[in-house]
Amino acid sequence: MTARLIMKLRVADAVATTPEVLHLGLVHPARPELPAWTAGAHVDLRLPDGRVRQYSLCGDPADRSRYEIAIRREEAGRGGSAWAHDTLAPGAFAHVSAPRNNFPLDAGARCHLLVAGGIGVTPLLAMARALCASGAEFAFHLCARSPEEAPLLAAVRSVCGPRLSCWFGSEGRRFDPASLGPAEPGTHVYACGPQRLMDAVRAGLVARGWPVERVHSEHFEPLRDEGFAPEPFEARIASTGQVLHVPADRSLLEVLRRAGFDLPSSCELGVCGSCECGYRDGTIIHRDAVLPLAKRGNRMMPCVSRARDAVTLEL
Ligand code: FES
Repeated sequence: MTARLIMKLRVADAVATTPEVLHLGLVHPARPELPAWTAGAHVDLRLPDGRVRQYSLCGDPADRSRYEIAIRREEAGRGGSAWAHDTLAPGAFAHVSAPRNNFPLDAGARCHLLVAGGIGVTPLLAMARALCASGAEFAFHLCARSPEEAPLLAAVRSVCGPRLSCWFGSEGRRFDPASLGPAEPGTHVYACGPQRLMDAVRAGLVARGWPVERVHSEHFEPLRDEGFAPEPFEARIASTGQVLHVPADRSLLEVLRRAGFDLPSSCELGVCGSCECGYRDGTIIHRDAVLPLAKRGNRMMPCVSRARDAVTLEL
């Protein structure tokens, strides 16, 4: 894995898609094309103080001339969205990473059901654009309190046409996972939005017999587990046999860095996927919000995840 390219991009346009959500178009000041990406990808936006926030790309993956993101102002958030709303006007510059995709469309699926809640519409709009372009079968379920509070609604309507179902609380329509129907072979579900929506989709579908590996979701919030008490453990480096002690008050990533391992990282919160590394044995306490279940048997995020007693790392 290599470190992600960071680019200084110019804000080409900035439009309020709802009173709380700013829709930005970003271009390279000198190059006509940006690095390629696939639907579901996100970029890291670097704040002036060095912190990093992740935003899904919502534009057209086939359009290499620009990236589009949408940022909801979170007054009670960690400060990144307020900075973006106050600063990123047309002509301003933003430091943005090359895209990474932790939430891809399943290449083997025959039908895709997209469920968006609020600002979670962003990766799913890019997916809808890609599915339209490929002629794939899909349906789009959009949940919001009201049409006025649904970010990018006009774009979703234009892209999805009759495949769109809107679930607006103001109209008394609440999304029910049962509306997705039974688990037809080859059908995959992708949910992005508030945690309670994603939990309801997953629980509702699994209860109806959907295989969990066909229900995909995207999280940008770190897992909240205030009751977690970290324990020390040993990390063995497979290539050299070196054993590193990871104390309770340090992350595995910190210990690896101090030992000279140059691992990439970005969020250091378990949400971006940058620091992923392989392991060979050991019982891992996965504390990230990004690694799919299918990869947890031999991959981990050392910025937040730990081991019970010991782990052998593929380094
Ligand atoms: S640095 Fe983001 S998941 Fe580890």
